[in-house]
Amino acid sequence: MALVFRPDKKSIEKTLAALKSYGNLVAPDARFNYDAKDGLRKEVCFRDEDFLSLLSSIDDEYVVDSILEMLKGKALVPPDAFYSKDAFDKLVALTKEKWYYPWTSFTKAMRRLFYMLASIKQPRIVVGMGIFYGYTLAWSAGPSCGKDKLYNAERVYGVDINTEAIEGARKNFAILEGSDHVELIAEDGRLVAQRLEGPVVFLHLDADGEKIGKKLYLELLKILYPKLAKGAWVLAHDVTDPGFQKQGVFTEYLNYVRDPKYFSESILFDIDQCGLELSIK
Ligand SMILES: C[S@@+](CC[C@H](N)C(=O)[O-])C[C@H]1O[C@@H](n2cnc3c(N)ncnc32)[C@H](O)[C@@H]1O
Repeated sequence: MALVFRPDKKSIEKTLAALKSYGNLVAPDARFNYDAKDGLRKEVCFRDEDFLSLLSSIDDEYVVDSILEMLKGKALVPPDAFYSKDAFDKLVALTKEKWYYPWTSFTKAMRRLFYMLASIKQPRIVVGMGIFYGYTLAWSAGPSCGKDKLYNAERVYGVDINTEAIEGARKNFAILEGSDHVELIAEDGRLVAQRLEGPVVFLHLDADGEKIGKKLYLELLKILYPKLAKGAWVLAHDVTDPGFQKQGVFTEYLNYVRDPKYFSESILFDIDQCGLELSIK
């Protein structure tokens, strides 16, 4: 006969109390649901891992359409702003069938959001920091590449300290037609940021430094800030990642970009496990 031991109510309540005291993942009024069947939740909240990851994959088109409407409503983008869903779908198919990348944390909602934002901003100079095998850069670069390109960008820079990853990114972009303006650089983003000439219009931060981790974002942003065009968009990926949130990794970064001294507006797109902060200079 198979036996199962399960910790009793005393242990469960003690664990729940400890979870609450750890801070920002469990609400102070959270209760343990003794009636829920094994493994099945009776109550789901927004920051539930399964809930958010499903939401971001099954409803990405509607979510991104809603973001576009919100940006229009706040007059942050022109009323006729749009992105080509056909061109986006073609890029999705290309990256799925022909690109190689070992893994990605970009969800369906995130890649569509980047594609939409780049289509609307039509940035002349794009910079991606920590692009790994280039998958994340594809969505910022996409609207200025290929047969279906929406506009001409002057330069798209993709930077990563990992030489092997940049080699992979080069192979990937070689398959994307009309991407000659995409320059892939295997170097420490800080050095590239120091010598880059502006004006940078679209900056995507995703670098995870060896010792400082995602705190690298603020370092890179401070170097690049004087080179950002007025009205430039800075996009910081991962700001709602539960692990990073628990450690307060982005507290200083978010205080900086939400300070009206540096940015006129900053918006959190809380659409998946990772989240994205868009800050407008
Ligand atoms: C977590 S990965 C980003 C992956 C991305 N979110 C995706 O889904 O593909 C972070 C990247 O930052 C790069 N990185 C770390 N330190 C860096 C630095 N100083 N300059 C540029 N890139 C750096 C790493 O090599 C790594 O590829």
